[in-house]
Amino acid sequence: MKKFKRYLVTSALPYANGPVHIGHLAGVYIPSDIYVRYLRLKGEDVLWVCGSDEHGVPITIKARQEGVTPQDVVDKYHNIIKNAFEELGISFDIYSRTSSEMHRKTASEFFRRLYDAGKFIEQTTMQYYDPEAGQFLADRYITGTCPHCRNERAYGDQCEKCGTTLNATDLIDPRSAITGAVPELRETKHWFLPLDRYEPFLRRWILEGHKEWKPNVYGQCKSWLDLGLQPRAVSRDLDWGIPVPVEGAEGKVLYVWFDAPIGYISATKELTPEWEKYWKDDETKLVHFIGKDNIVFHCIVFPSMLQAHGEYILPDNVPANEFLNLENDKISTSRNWAVWLHEYLQDFPGKQDVLRYVLCANAPETKDNDFTWKDFQARNNNELVAILGNFVNRALVLTSKYFNGEVPAAGEPAEYDRNCLDEVAAIKTSLENNIDHYRFREALKDAMNIARMGNKYLADTEPWKIFKEDPLRVATILNTALQITANLAIAIKPFMPFTADKLSGLLQCGPLGWERLGSDSILPVGHRLGKPELLFEKIEDDVIEAQLAKLEAARAANLAKEAKVEPRKESVSFEDFSRMDIRVSKVVAAEKVAKTKKLLKLTVDTGIDVRTIVSGIAEFFTPEELVGKQVLVLANLQPRELKGIMSEGMILMAEDASGKLVAVAPESEVKPGSCVR
Ligand code: 2FM
Ligand code: ZN
Repeated sequence: MKKFKRYLVTSALPYANGPVHIGHLAGVYIPSDIYVRYLRLKGEDVLWVCGSDEHGVPITIKARQEGVTPQDVVDKYHNIIKNAFEELGISFDIYSRTSSEMHRKTASEFFRRLYDAGKFIEQTTMQYYDPEAGQFLADRYITGTCPHCRNERAYGDQCEKCGTTLNATDLIDPRSAITGAVPELRETKHWFLPLDRYEPFLRRWILEGHKEWKPNVYGQCKSWLDLGLQPRAVSRDLDWGIPVPVEGAEGKVLYVWFDAPIGYISATKELTPEWEKYWKDDETKLVHFIGKDNIVFHCIVFPSMLQAHGEYILPDNVPANEFLNLENDKISTSRNWAVWLHEYLQDFPGKQDVLRYVLCANAPETKDNDFTWKDFQARNNNELVAILGNFVNRALVLTSKYFNGEVPAAGEPAEYDRNCLDEVAAIKTSLENNIDHYRFREALKDAMNIARMGNKYLADTEPWKIFKEDPLRVATILNTALQITANLAIAIKPFMPFTADKLSGLLQCGPLGWERLGSDSILPVGHRLGKPELLFEKIEDDVIEAQLAKLEAARAANLAKEAKVEPRKESVSFEDFSRMDIRVSKVVAAEKVAKTKKLLKLTVDTGIDVRTIVSGIAEFFTPEELVGKQVLVLANLQPRELKGIMSEGMILMAEDASGKLVAVAPESEVKPGSCVR
């Protein structure tokens, strides 16, 4: 592995259109926090930048939904996200935002440099336009059916079901997400980055030069490159974003995926006047932590932009994770199917490390994974409490009991004692190797193996049974156990910083650097320890049940929402509406249509005439309950024959999404023939 002088780590900028949930954490922020904390502990020169992604259509859609401005939306969520990250111990060197002036300037200059160097193609193309809303429909403003997987809720830029990146014109049966209208195509000018020109460079750089990238990342890049790259528009017709900084671009802004990754540069600039050292020197190792839906932007689009610019380094690795599901269902912000970080912090005060532990132990590193509350409870109770907490507690309590809380002398260690401490050094090698290769689950297992080994060591040596006859042997055992404990305080620190600090407090040993990990003499003989305290507590069933009930409530609300709402239909003119002749009518006779399950033959007095209508309502009404009832009838519907009976009109009914029918009638008796308009 090449040795770098310094590190620049970036984590995907979360959209400021909603709070952060466990999927974001497991996919991006926990692994990157572990990586950076580890590098810092090793004394490496590392900067870690992140911030809110505050442009793009998701923000404007949220603003419309909430009836506020896009700026209100990003202000609200930027603060929620920033505070929640901080409380979880996510230790960015800077958490910035893309609505900042620094970012506007940086992104505009970037665009301008590419523009001046002739790196863009200017093209007038046909784009969807919503005539009712009076605006072009960029990206998520347009929905329709995915041509690949037939998902009916695909967006103009991506299908979230099959992950395909789309152009709005690929969608089948497109609709405006603003009004529901069928959009029309209109001409508009945009700037395109001709990705096809970067194909040879990308092939060389990724397919030949980065075979070590994770298979999911390498594979996605390869299939993109094998499909052939197309020019990609880097501007949009929107009124929220960074204005395109050239003449004649009124009403146009930079595409959010053009400006967002430049946010990494702006944030570094904001952080330090030495930012260029981190971005423009080959001796910097640049690592992008992202989720799998961001792979193409970080491996294909952004590197092409950087290459076009010419002054910047490229990422050394892009360790993208797969997705985390929740209780066997896809996490979804719009369906409120998530465990929100800010809510977790409220519901589980002081338990930051439990979440950090569970999300790392179960991180979707190589495939999608599932978070369940039962697993959360089991990992807390059976691993954190029973293994880590238990070992540390036994070592401290026994020392307090037999040696008054002072580290006893090691005396003459037996082979078993020495082997245990040697094992810690071996674990260190494995742990480092795993973190260096972005295998954080394995690295966490390594750290926990130190506690596992400690537990076994105490169970095997049973110091509580031999103190009376052999106090010197017990001193050796507890010295060994305490050195293991001190090693643990270092090894768990990247993963569980709060617990590591608490443990250092119990050991009264101050901060320990990574170089001490593997040492058999971290705590000097005679060193006074603090009062033993438990590191973790059991999580009881009722706590887990409360969380499950919260999710059940979200599920019920979704079902109710889905059952209620049918998307709005296309607009009709008033004229179209007035052509419908709807009359209050009275049912004078009703009978079932023979050999059918659903049909009733009704005789109705429409005020104009008495006529026959065949209606598919037999599953909901008996003939008897209909006779004498007032109903609404569409009286000028073209007659048609049903089961050999001529039906002259239609009875109007309310129908919910489950198909249940309820008759609609005037509140009080009116004369048959009265018009409804
Ligand atoms: O997918 C997302 O949530 C995007 N907001 C990530 C942006 S990463 C970057 F390039 F800034
Ligand atoms: Zn699809």
